Amino acid sequence: MKAYQFGVLGAGNMGRAIVDGAVRAGMFPAKSALLFNRSADKRAENQKMGYAVTEDYTKVYTGCDTVVLGVKPQNFGEVLPRLAACALSDKPLLISIAAGVTFSKIEQALGADTPIIRVMPNTPLLLGEGASALVKNAAASAGQLDAAVRLFSSMGAAAVFEKEDMLNEIIPYNGSLPAFVYQFIEAFAKSAAQHGISREDALPLICKTVIGSAKMVLQGDKTPAELIGAVCSPGGTTIEGVRVFDSRGLDEIVAEASDKAIARAYELGK
Ligand SMILES: NC(=O)c1ccc[n+]([C@@H]2O[C@H](COP(=O)([O-])OP(=O)(O)OC[C@H]3O[C@@H](n4cnc5c(N)ncnc54)[C@H](OP(=O)(O)O)[C@@H]3O)[C@@H](O)[C@H]2O)c1
Repeated sequence: MKAYQFGVLGAGNMGRAIVDGAVRAGMFPAKSALLFNRSADKRAENQKMGYAVTEDYTKVYTGCDTVVLGVKPQNFGEVLPRLAACALSDKPLLISIAAGVTFSKIEQALGADTPIIRVMPNTPLLLGEGASALVKNAAASAGQLDAAVRLFSSMGAAAVFEKEDMLNEIIPYNGSLPAFVYQFIEAFAKSAAQHGISREDALPLICKTVIGSAKMVLQGDKTPAELIGAVCSPGGTTIEGVRVFDSRGLDEIVAEASDKAIARAYELGK
């Protein structure tokens, strides 16, 4: 057992959301987590929240049982060599949330015996309503994976995959999906405006409908197709709109958008 149970190397939006979620879920107290930020203001803010703070990220790597790598993918080239220079024998479990940074890249720098869990989270995790996909490397144990699944389940849904490539394949369905949903919300808000409904009135109605509709799917007693059928009475209003989506090829548009996002993830990982 090291000085701290948990560390965040880069306590930005995502890193903070993860440690806050874990503390909220009672997994450990704030004082058992060591957070690294470059900015003194952010360190002061995190200290006020009860976290231990540091401006030296090697202390997070050497002093914590589990470390979230919360820096951007482009910072790994600078950060990994400094961690490697610590030459640790007792390596922490690393949880990397960086899109496209492969096990092989981290292992090449820190050694193949480094336990790593890669996670593709999404931004609703900031509200405890995230959806995360997890994959472990060979050095991480089943127990370490279970602990990571518990951590991410405490702030939303979590799914485990065997193959690392699945973290690219999942991107349109969790990491990028919030943006696609916002596009839909925005398009309906614009359409509402054309019918004299202000954004102020439209946005809460549209968003509540998106949340409620998704909850009905999650209940699981009806498929999405059955739920569409329940809203579309024959000769009614909704079926007219559904026909437009069908004739314009909504499924094909979604498939193409997903394929493009996935292809980009593979490109970034090269
Ligand atoms: N945002 C998303 O939708 C999303 C979704 C899935 C995965 N991710 C992944 O989550 C990770 C973090 O994203 P974020 O949105 O939380 O970013 P962020 O808020 O900008 O946080 C980045 C953190 O890295 C630190 N940092 C920046 N430059 C650094 C450097 N040169 N050396 C060391 N530390 C440095 C920052 O320090 P300061 O706090 O002092 O600024 C900050 O704590 C990324 O790898 C991203 O791929 C994000």
